[in-house]
Amino acid sequence: MRRLPPVLLEDGCPRELISLIRTILAACKEISFRVGQGALSGVLGSTLDENIQGETQKKLDVLTNQLLKDILLESGYVKAIASEEEDYTVAGNPNAEYIVAFDPLDGSSNTDINSLVGTIFSVMKAPEGSDPADQSIFMQPGKSQVAAGYVLYGPSTVLALTTGKGTRFFTLDKTHGSFLLTQDFAQIPEETSEYAINASNQRHWQPAMQNYINDLMAGETGPRARNFNMRWIAAMVGDVHRVLCRGGIFTYPTDTKDPNKPNKLRLLYEANPMAMLIEQAGGIASTGTERIMDIQPDAIHQRVAVILGSKNEVETCLGYHK
Ligand code: AHG
Ligand code: MN
Ligand code: MN
Ligand code: MN
Repeated sequence: MRRLPPVLLEDGCPRELISLIRTILAACKEISFRVGQGALSGVLGSTLDENIQGETQKKLDVLTNQLLKDILLESGYVKAIASEEEDYTVAGNPNAEYIVAFDPLDGSSNTDINSLVGTIFSVMKAPEGSDPADQSIFMQPGKSQVAAGYVLYGPSTVLALTTGKGTRFFTLDKTHGSFLLTQDFAQIPEETSEYAINASNQRHWQPAMQNYINDLMAGETGPRARNFNMRWIAAMVGDVHRVLCRGGIFTYPTDTKDPNKPNKLRLLYEANPMAMLIEQAGGIASTGTERIMDIQPDAIHQRVAVILGSKNEVETCLGYHK
């Protein structure tokens, strides 16, 4: 089986970018080990702190953020980082070419129940001559990402990665610490009968999503004339991984539950990297009205509606939004 660096070199991926990706993965290997130790390493449970978005931080949110932040800033490969758990961006090497936005631990609510969690990352180029302390270097649409991926800490630790030449899976071989290529060019089936949504928010959705989900739930006697199955892992990494592996539609739509927070998922370090992985595997990623990767961000913790997955099913869903 092939290791990650030669695979990326063959693609013509710049050496500096490969080194940066390997730096992220070095932190992820450490996270994989800590998550795997569970209660033994004393990292389960919550802290007394909140992040800037008003979420109570889990001990693992803080630990994983610190690991990624330290290793990235010490590496010299990044000009600045943005993280779900950092109020503002953090400046790195002023001469570096790349910037990284990350969700150090996606699916925090799963930590204490030994269920799926992951790390999501997005790599972009810093504008030439830009100031590493300037937050606006991150205000680039997702289509300018040069690499995107996640590491899923499940029964096995799996990396999904794209540098714009397809989406690949690598599995961490824990016997010698290498990520080995286990699937070249994932392709999402265009058709699916599986959907993922937190249905407890149904009464708060907009009419388009209410109608779409009602029609799925009506099954073989409804307008879709077939039965659909539902899955919800409560970690976007887990749900997106399932969609990449066997198709499906995943959505976290706009809702009116909290008028100050109509959307849940964050553009820079959740929606954009997942959108790139999905598109590179033949799927679609939209807000309902526009392609996610076309959005011009205006804040680092900006939130967006997300509808992604199998091409034909996402198109059907978007049809309800017209
Ligand atoms: P995070 O743990 O990084 O804050 O993200 C959690 C997100 C996402 O992973 C998941 O799809 C969603 O929240 C789960 O939401 P519910 O709590 O509504 O199930
Ligand atoms: Mn969080
Ligand atoms: Mn997340
Ligand atoms: Mn998180």
